[in-house]
Amino acid sequence: MYIAGLAGLGLIVLVSIYKCASGEVRQAESEKCFFCDFAHRRQGPPPILEVETDEYVIFKDKYPAARLHYLAIPKEHFDSLKALNKSHVGLVRRMEQGMMEFLRSQNVDPKEAIVGFHLPPFISVRHLHLHGIFPPADMSFGNKISFMPSFWFKKSSDAIRELEDREL
Ligand SMILES: *[C@@H]1O[C@H](CO)[C@@H](O)[C@H](O)[C@H]1NC(C)=O
Repeated sequence: MYIAGLAGLGLIVLVSIYKCASGEVRQAESEKCFFCDFAHRRQGPPPILEVETDEYVIFKDKYPAARLHYLAIPKEHFDSLKALNKSHVGLVRRMEQGMMEFLRSQNVDPKEAIVGFHLPPFISVRHLHLHGIFPPADMSFGNKISFMPSFWFKKSSDAIRELEDREL
């Protein structure tokens, strides 16, 4: 039983690495960032922008992991959390704040939601995106693994704490 569980976990990690790798290849081929297009309204809907500020937008994830699954992305292009440093702490805090406020507007207590970032190479789209997911109980076993605090997924509070420790 235990062995089967471990084998399953290994398989999920392999599959997600494979998915990320093929996603990156696709993106490199087209040399085009469709999240940048979304954030700057360079293409028509979908997605519908639920929130828009000078710095970021929030919209529904195309492949929701639970009943509510939204992404907050900055208008400025960053590949991932790895591209950020201490000078970006304010931006990430405001994106987190924006996601929390949006979740509250959907009658969700943000403390009950999953709010965080995947780390490379476990990212599906190479443009920084903050997930907001509720309720966690809706999620499949694979998504629970994919979105659990780990070396592939960071809660936003942990991500902010780490950025504060980076160089400027
Ligand atoms: C931190 O980010 C800023 C803004 O993107 C950049 O100008 C600066 O060079 C970065 N610092 C380091 C150490 O990468």
